[in-house]
Amino acid sequence: QAAGAGTRALAGRRVLITAGGTREALDPVRFLGNRSSGKQGIAIARAARDAGANVHLIAAHVETPLPEGVRVTRVSSALELRDASLAAAEGCDVVVMAAAVADYRPDTVGEHKMKKSEDGTDPVIRLVRNPDILRELVTLRNEQGREQLVVGFAAETGDAERSVLDFGRAKLRRKGCDLLVLNEVGTDKVFGRDDTEVVVLSADSEDESGARGTKDEVARFVVARIASELHV
Ligand code: CTP
Ligand code: CA
Repeated sequence: QAAGAGTRALAGRRVLITAGGTREALDPVRFLGNRSSGKQGIAIARAARDAGANVHLIAAHVETPLPEGVRVTRVSSALELRDASLAAAEGCDVVVMAAAVADYRPDTVGEHKMKKSEDGTDPVIRLVRNPDILRELVTLRNEQGREQLVVGFAAETGDAERSVLDFGRAKLRRKGCDLLVLNEVGTDKVFGRDDTEVVVLSADSEDESGARGTKDEVARFVVARIASELHV
């Protein structure tokens, strides 16, 4: 189709996107969660669909309407997200890990709703590490020799010695993914808001191009960046 530059840039591509925030159960009614709304990941799913991709969205507790024309799998915990993602990644050209995955989960899940103790002692919640899904996706991709672009996300704050970009570069290397979409977070700067700012870091170039705007505008930028990576 002779449309404008950049449109249909992902025609025929299979794209897996995770979005939202996982919930880690404590008992049948309680969980540990995070403030991710899923808006950015869903905006990317919409932008990828509009670019002609065949999109599979794995959604964990998203607080925003889901796009039409996208296959959706709903999950709750990090372990569910992991199983769904590893299974769905096979055969995908692009995997985008936009979900906020809980780093830890309670080591046991009560079968019944927890009651207050009768002797006045306060409960202690013990946490165990969740698997690093992004790293597992990269490892699987490498082991199976898949031609697949893996994209991670990171929300960072700088500190006295290191900038947000320093932390982003280090995380990109540690994760082994191809692109890292990085944004700076301060109180209320990103979560739940409609405007945002990102820098996309690449594992094999110094390129640090970024975009600022609504989550839809930023999503279109990220999708264009993904498409250009696929075409090199
Ligand atoms: N991620 C993941 N599995 C996890 C944690 C994170 O796949 N258990 C993914 C996120 O979806 C995101 C990227 O890894 O794409 C970076 O997440 P982040 O929380 O910044 O990375 P962590 O390795 O957990 O580092 P930190 O200790 O800074 O939280
Ligand atoms: Ca984390």
